Amino acid sequence: PYMEQQGSHTLHPPRVLIFPFPLQGHVNSMLKLAELLALQGLHVTFLNTQFIYNRLLLHTDIQARFAAYPGFLLKTISDGLPDDHPRSSDTLLDLFDSMNSISKSLLKQMLASDELGSESSPSVTCIIADGLFGKFTTDVADELGIPIIHFRTIGACSFWVYFSIPNIIEAGELPIRGKEDMDRLINSVPGMESFLRCRDLPNFCRLSDLTNQSLHHLVQETHHSKRAKALILNTFEDLEAPILSHIQTQFPKIYSIGPLHTHLKHKLATVASSSQSSNSFLEVDRSCIAWLNAQPAKSVIYVSFGSLAVIVKDQLMEFWHGLVNSNTRFLWVIRTDLVTKEGDSAQILAELLDETKERWFIVGWAPQEEVLAHPAVGGFLTHSGWNSTLESIVAGVPMICWPYFADQQVNSRFVSEVWKIGIDMKDVCDRQIVEKVVNDLMVERREEFERVAEEMSMLARKSVNEGGSSYCNLERLIEDIRLARS
Ligand code: UDX
Repeated sequence: PYMEQQGSHTLHPPRVLIFPFPLQGHVNSMLKLAELLALQGLHVTFLNTQFIYNRLLLHTDIQARFAAYPGFLLKTISDGLPDDHPRSSDTLLDLFDSMNSISKSLLKQMLASDELGSESSPSVTCIIADGLFGKFTTDVADELGIPIIHFRTIGACSFWVYFSIPNIIEAGELPIRGKEDMDRLINSVPGMESFLRCRDLPNFCRLSDLTNQSLHHLVQETHHSKRAKALILNTFEDLEAPILSHIQTQFPKIYSIGPLHTHLKHKLATVASSSQSSNSFLEVDRSCIAWLNAQPAKSVIYVSFGSLAVIVKDQLMEFWHGLVNSNTRFLWVIRTDLVTKEGDSAQILAELLDETKERWFIVGWAPQEEVLAHPAVGGFLTHSGWNSTLESIVAGVPMICWPYFADQQVNSRFVSEVWKIGIDMKDVCDRQIVEKVVNDLMVERREEFERVAEEMSMLARKSVNEGGSSYCNLERLIEDIRLARS
């Protein structure tokens, strides 16, 4: 059934290579995309760096899960860094550089020698690469004549801001001139003129040196997506239609197929498969579910700053006191590497134990999607990573946003000003403010936020149902992958 006859050539079935940037939020959402494509019968090769693959092997059932899909291959590539090199938010530029040189040549070699295929589908006929390293993957694809599509793990809103940064600079709206300049409106991002302030731009725009490497990378890689055949975004049209139409002026072919975790859940349910498993790099601590089971409905605020953000001990203490003083129950994810500099988190936590103990629960890593869907959870204090934002939207849980870096400053502005499903407390870390916003979200303005959040949740779920926008866009994507041939 896999062989197609075309003229005198025998064509093997198409094989798509999926290659994420080696970070939690990226691998998580691209694995979901991979499973969605595999569910529809495509042969998929998922390429991880060796470092990330080892972590997935430790904490997930990735091999068993994907063995069930015909033609699915899990492959690895070196990220070019020594094994003991730290891989954290501080060393992302090292990762960029080493992947751009070492992984690039390895990728080319692997593709050219059909190392990424199987007997029935030996050659990669389409690449879906993470647009965060759009340049080198597109260079390789072009050199080998393989069609490439870029996937971005960020929302349309921040993608459009990244893309527009050269215009902002050209218009003289950057650099930012000190603290008092932070609330100035930015006029050169089409569609955001009325609400995007300097402080809502990606944090790298705050540096007086606008040639800084982090900003340069984000902007350049985003512009390289213009060389790709198409762009896939983990978003849905009811959430971001106005921004998507601006993006379309520059990127004519876009597939908005999110929220991917909901999309996959929906598709798995239709084939009566068990629910999705974890894609976590860390050990998931499920003990918090039993604790949540014992809490009243919507009484708990879930607190998590994602996989990369780091804070200092003073910030930890401000959040702690603010949360405790708010009298709200809370479930807090404190990764072992969340707190920098002043010693280890366990030591700090030991000092926090007090008589309020029955009102809170701390874990090192939570089953987040399940936590957000739990009836006891009524709010989310988040760093506004895009996956977390989408997961909260689907669960209908209003947010308090405390963005850390990159796309998160933009996401949090959209949550509060555009979608009106939460409060943006960026740039503030003070126990009184924390107490106040927690109270606002969980008590004072609860109904107002809940109403809008529930509406958005409904639209998110509708988008992946048969006939919904993300559902149809995925069908289109799969059809185009089947037609794409090198
Ligand atoms: C950051 C960015 O902000 C994000 O937008 C970008 O695409 C990738 O880099 P990150 O800090 O990983 O991402 O945050 P987020 O995108 O929210 O992803 C975190 C993921 O980890 C989510 O899928 C979340 O469900 C999961 N998670 C988090 C857990 O499973 N358990 C936890 O305890 C915390």
